[in-house]
Amino acid sequence: MPIKKMWGGRFEQAGDQSIDEFGASISFDQEMANEDIMGSLAHVKMLKQTGILASDDADQIIAGLENLQNKLAAGELHFTVENEDIHMNIEALLTAEIGPVAGKLHTGRSRNDQVATDFHLYVKERLPLVIKQLKALQGALVQQAEANVETIMPGYTHMQHAQPISYGHYLMAYFQMFQRDVERFQFNQQHTSISPLGAAALAGTTFPIDRQLTSDLLGFDHPYANSLDAVSDRDFALEFLSNASILMMHLSRLAEEIIYWCSYEFGYLELSDAYSTGSSIMPQKKNPDIAELIRGKTGRVYGDLMGLLTVMKGLPLAYNKDMQEDKEGVFDAVKTILPCLKMMTGMIKTLQVKKDQMAYATQHDFSNATELADYLATKGIPFRKAHEIVGELVLKGLKTGVDLADIPFEQYQQINPQIDETVYEVLKPTVAVQRRHSLGGTGFDQVQKQIQHAKAILKKQDAED
Ligand code: ARG
Repeated sequence: MPIKKMWGGRFEQAGDQSIDEFGASISFDQEMANEDIMGSLAHVKMLKQTGILASDDADQIIAGLENLQNKLAAGELHFTVENEDIHMNIEALLTAEIGPVAGKLHTGRSRNDQVATDFHLYVKERLPLVIKQLKALQGALVQQAEANVETIMPGYTHMQHAQPISYGHYLMAYFQMFQRDVERFQFNQQHTSISPLGAAALAGTTFPIDRQLTSDLLGFDHPYANSLDAVSDRDFALEFLSNASILMMHLSRLAEEIIYWCSYEFGYLELSDAYSTGSSIMPQKKNPDIAELIRGKTGRVYGDLMGLLTVMKGLPLAYNKDMQEDKEGVFDAVKTILPCLKMMTGMIKTLQVKKDQMAYATQHDFSNATELADYLATKGIPFRKAHEIVGELVLKGLKTGVDLADIPFEQYQQINPQIDETVYEVLKPTVAVQRRHSLGGTGFDQVQKQIQHAKAILKKQDAED
């Protein structure tokens, strides 16, 4: 005999168990059990304060909910599919705890504003954890950048050697990307910290509730202005998933480069043993599994975003059961990005930088060609002409195996008698990097400036926490 549903009054026939299972969300929304109890506590406190519930009824409910909170923390709450979702499970457990007075809790409230409240609280509590983990990664990047301001590596465009750069500069590019991620997640909080509680099913309620009070009790910035919007809005979750996707894209690009740089062909970096694995057949292997997994997990987070965008796209106002599908992707994204950030932080902190190999890669690659063209331009040769001259020298050099730095002085003099011995200085990769003093360039002074600025940002954020 199926148990009677909380909403079962107008029903004559019960669905079978497979239908119950299909409709139930308890298998995943129990993740929001604590948020659900928090929401109920705020609601009942408000019902008490506004006189909607008698004090002793409200006090019994409060005590019952607090008991449930303790039991939840102790792992002593057991949920059932018959009770469908976390909201009705908690209410059933409350009834078991304090008897029929528990039924008064749902006065002036619906599961529609309840689930929205739980979900907002869930995201609201996770955002600071993501930001904290992002800052730890930024800290690791700054630390490595500081130790590598003068470490020279090839800079690439089209994956071809372009111009030499500072490895510290390269790392600071990622710092900037993650800083934008931090800012996006911070902004996300503005659209998350809005309380749907009291919107009831869709239209508000006739009870004289105090929505500002529940909003304050739950630490939200303010209540939603429109009850239809309050129960239908999932923008905050979409923003979270979109931010998470962009973050994963950044992590994935970094992971991809780490994988490249650790290959035999590049050999710029070596992962610490802790962040690599061996092969069951090839004894020599040291595989960058953790970086690859970060790159791979990017796909699932994009999937989480696409899933929710698609769930929401055709939904009429207000609540539709489709929206029960909004949670798993967000839970999954939270559980993916936090460990990815942690792994990347550990990996960056323990990476061994093979400075010689990096520097060597800039020596015979003609990546100082722009330097020579710029130098010729300073001697009065129009840049277009200088570009052509150097292009021809490179072509010849590629055929004869002679680097620009090895071209005899007489030959340079033939090109233009104003060329003096300083040309050889200019052609050195380190000098090429050092001289890029333009704002935000790879010149050592500029990289130092970026690092100092980054440190100030991190310090300021620390102080705000
Ligand atoms: N389990 C539901 C969800 O996750 C809760 C809201 C149910 N509301 C309703 N009117 N059926 O969306």
